[in-house]
Amino acid sequence: MNIERSTAWREYLARNPLSRAHAARAAQRVPSGTSRSLLRHPPFPFYAREAHGVTSIDLDGNERIDFHNNYTTLIHGHGHPAVLEAITDQVARGTTYSAPGAQEYALAELLCGRITSVDQVVFNNSGTEAVMLALRIARAVTGRNRIGKFEGGYHGASDFVMVGGHGLPAVDDPVRVSQPAADVGGLPDAACADVVLMRYNDPQAVREAIAAHGDTLAAIIVEPILGAGGVIPATPEFLRVLREETARAGVVLICDEVITLRHALGGAQGYYGLDPDLTTMAKTIGGGFPVGAVGGKREFMRSLEADGSVANLGTFSANPVTMAAGLAAMTLLDEAAIAHLDRLGERARRGLAATIARHDLPAGVSGAGSLFQLHWTRAPLTCARGPATADATRNLATFLGLANRGVQLSMRGIGALSTPMQDQHVDRLVEAFEDFVGELRADGLV
Ligand SMILES: Cc1ncc(COP(=O)(O)O)c(C=O)c1O
Repeated sequence: MNIERSTAWREYLARNPLSRAHAARAAQRVPSGTSRSLLRHPPFPFYAREAHGVTSIDLDGNERIDFHNNYTTLIHGHGHPAVLEAITDQVARGTTYSAPGAQEYALAELLCGRITSVDQVVFNNSGTEAVMLALRIARAVTGRNRIGKFEGGYHGASDFVMVGGHGLPAVDDPVRVSQPAADVGGLPDAACADVVLMRYNDPQAVREAIAAHGDTLAAIIVEPILGAGGVIPATPEFLRVLREETARAGVVLICDEVITLRHALGGAQGYYGLDPDLTTMAKTIGGGFPVGAVGGKREFMRSLEADGSVANLGTFSANPVTMAAGLAAMTLLDEAAIAHLDRLGERARRGLAATIARHDLPAGVSGAGSLFQLHWTRAPLTCARGPATADATRNLATFLGLANRGVQLSMRGIGALSTPMQDQHVDRLVEAFEDFVGELRADGLV
């Protein structure tokens, strides 16, 4: 069935007339009506008017429980009182300075105290910038040029990591190591030529890549839980082999914890016992403000000292409002908060999986800790190849159908819990999905 005739689509149009009008107006001045390419979807996005706690409210006054949390950033939901207080207190004393702010030290101290592999840290303005800087440090330290990454790994918007997210080999294709295709237009040829792509969760892929290319690789970058590629946790064996092989070949191991820092006090690397050379961070550590950070062992961070060859630039890097908000948010994120989030995550995964099993749907659920993803595929969810086979029409129908029922996931079905959430919020998600499945059936979409 054509999605435009589905109940989800028609009800979405009926519920969002003001967003529809705004989308048409905004598209005159902003391509497709929003600067954020990843938030565009047919027929048009609902535009946020305000958000409080677990709830976001759009231009038409529709309220939704926010399981999107700006792509996992808002770990305490919207406007947590302690974070708000830290922000307003700092704003009154200045939003940005012409001298280094004293505020960054406290957040640096907190992160270094929690993450074993991080002796020192610098802040910038996004995960994208953090990854760019980490790769640059790796090139400077090793004198090598090429980068290794994993299929489906998303590491922000810079040239050398905007490859290998799409056009992946088939699930049963035996190829383990390949040259990536570009994910977006406008990349230099080197972005594909200088990147070695490996299958995720495949120790043999790492061994093959290092054997063939180890002496030209500056770094391998890995997410300990694959995020945009399917919310798939790494196996301990995969990470162990990755650490061993990179150490042996003198390849800098960068652990991208932009999404996964929420997994344990010491990040997912602490949970897995992984000891990377450099770590990239963002999202949660900014308390809702733009942020990025690179941390790591002293021998690698040394290149950022005043007499080192690498520089961390950015007019707004380590701005005091982000530092204050981030410190408040990360202080709130203690062991008890993480345990609460993980329990809710388990409840969400179980509830969705039970609905899938009850209706024998061609779908699956992945995730770990406080992250989950619903996939419209029966393919295995152990690397990015399975999630890549998900049915795009059902994905969109589900996103719209849940939005109509007062629940927001990401367009591809990713959810992230926030600390103000309780069982009842997760149960609302599961009930909304159960209810929506009946509609999908009636519409002949499943
Ligand atoms: C693992 C990972 N690394 C890097 C980034 C880029 O972060 P930002 O969007 O802050 O540039 C993201 C963003 O989703 C991410 O998931």
